[in-house]
Amino acid sequence: MDLEKRLEQATQYLKENCPYRPKVGVILGSGLGSYGDTLVGARHFLYENIPHFPVSTVEGHVGRFVITDHVICMQGRFHFYEGYDMGEVTFPIRVMKLLGVEKLIVTNAAGGINTEFGCGDLMLITDHINLCGKNPLIGRNLDSFGLRFPDMSQAYSKELLEIAKKVAKKIDLPLKEGVYMYFSGPSFETPAEIRAARILGADAAGMSTVPEVIVANHCGINVLGISCITNMAAGVLQQPLTHIEVMETTEKVKEKFIELVKGIVEEMTKA
Ligand code: HPA
Repeated sequence: MDLEKRLEQATQYLKENCPYRPKVGVILGSGLGSYGDTLVGARHFLYENIPHFPVSTVEGHVGRFVITDHVICMQGRFHFYEGYDMGEVTFPIRVMKLLGVEKLIVTNAAGGINTEFGCGDLMLITDHINLCGKNPLIGRNLDSFGLRFPDMSQAYSKELLEIAKKVAKKIDLPLKEGVYMYFSGPSFETPAEIRAARILGADAAGMSTVPEVIVANHCGINVLGISCITNMAAGVLQQPLTHIEVMETTEKVKEKFIELVKGIVEEMTKA
């Protein structure tokens, strides 16, 4: 079955089983899923029950949509390093588009490359560098979603960045800003790769987000990206990196992250 048909059937399932038509989407990164648990009156849809959906495997990812009248939230995403192809990694973005989503908040855990950053900082993504060598739009263009050669010169919406900064100020939360570099993973980067990334202009390194952001831009969804700096990237602090550290940091910043995302969603749904 071709991709359009599969997308249609997945969307149809959600439309038939959920009365809500939110305009804001949220992807919750590793360890950041708890925002979804705070949504009152939400409907839950396990990925495994949605036709044609891939199933999430990584620790810290539940694997479901949490949907309210304002927001559709992904608790768990699909990573290229898990073995999914780029079509699978970005499948949910196109389903969100077909459901009527116009704005997307993409979050992730990332390693800090910029030495001004510290563990637990939240960074607004101003731009990205796709270092993984793959592009999710390779192959036949889905003309009903967007152009063959989509513009990426404002992949992260200036307007949404302003909204995020305004909310952060209101709740007295300092934010960093910077460029996110996408590595495929699952091995963490080497210190030499991180030094190279810094020279190339990156402030943080991560293993997600970029495929979803490319596909969101392709189909005209405005994107806001937020990285939680869970650790300093390889070689910065001369200590080994572990997924445990990543999870420990997200646990610590959970409250302020939830407050920020809640505030931003509120502002987005007002506008
Ligand atoms: N590198 C890549 N991805 C990550 C990191 C990192 O240091 N920390 C959390 N996700």
